[in-house]
Amino acid sequence: MTEEAFDVIVVGSCMTDLVSQSPRLPKEGETIHGHNFFIGFGGKGANQCMQAAKLGAKTAMVAKVGNDSFGDSYIQNFKDHGVHTGFVAQTSAAATGVASIIVNDAGQNAIVIVAGANMLLSKVELQDALPAITSAKVLLCQLEIPPQISLRALQMAQENKVTTIFNPAPAIPDLDPDFYRLSDVFCCNESEAELLTGSSVNNVEEARCAGRELLRRGCGTVIITLGAQGCVVLQASESTSKHVPATPVTAVDTTGAGDSFIGALAYYMAHYPTMQLDEVARRAGQVAGVSVQSVGTQSSYPHRRDLAADLF
Ligand code: RIB
Repeated sequence: MTEEAFDVIVVGSCMTDLVSQSPRLPKEGETIHGHNFFIGFGGKGANQCMQAAKLGAKTAMVAKVGNDSFGDSYIQNFKDHGVHTGFVAQTSAAATGVASIIVNDAGQNAIVIVAGANMLLSKVELQDALPAITSAKVLLCQLEIPPQISLRALQMAQENKVTTIFNPAPAIPDLDPDFYRLSDVFCCNESEAELLTGSSVNNVEEARCAGRELLRRGCGTVIITLGAQGCVVLQASESTSKHVPATPVTAVDTTGAGDSFIGALAYYMAHYPTMQLDEVARRAGQVAGVSVQSVGTQSSYPHRRDLAADLF
């Protein structure tokens, strides 16, 4: 039990990232030599939580890891960064989730996840976190845990007037339509927007079109991230969409950049609730832009002290 009020609560995944760096991504059936390997902390939910925590948000994670050394290390990692772990359960019925990641010399990646213990996060465990969810400013969910748990978490938040951010990643084509109306902010990347709308999303104009379609499905705000092209922000309350350009940077590893963006989004929405969403997105883009300039996922996320004062 906790009496604490959190800025950001994340109901989501923890993965141990097993990362190989290689000149390029292998083709089907091909073996290639990589030049570096490391193990890091990942999972979209935990990544987003960690970025919000590194910026100074009071955070809590609702998650499940295995009763194994990866799970033990993960909980310690949260504690080391001040993330509340009272709702992180351990199970012997499955191993801690893992992500096998290949990063090429251009900083692009390919990822396979085996979600393991993440898929055992239950409604009972979610219900235990209700007092913390109802007192939070922002709740974040993704799709690396059972979708019905994410859906229920969004419902619990909406019923209690907690701002919801939903990141439909990894995207599934038959997403329950309730996800749209339960999302104050629905934030996805270009490939997720493509899969959900069936339309190609390669540029700002196509992102605006896809965004309008997602808005029609009931979201309050849609943000579609476009990597180096920045993002577009569309609000149901306004008839216009805004393109927020990104500052050009040299990317060495883009893994988890979207999570850095969303974690920062949650931080800014919790701390500056009246800030215009295009300005929130601009600042979140600056944070994510720093993350791609070094290797790793959470290890590349900047702390508040690493960032320009005018971002706060
Ligand atoms: O979004 C990046 C994350 O996706 C990685 O950390 C990996 O764990 C997968 O969940």
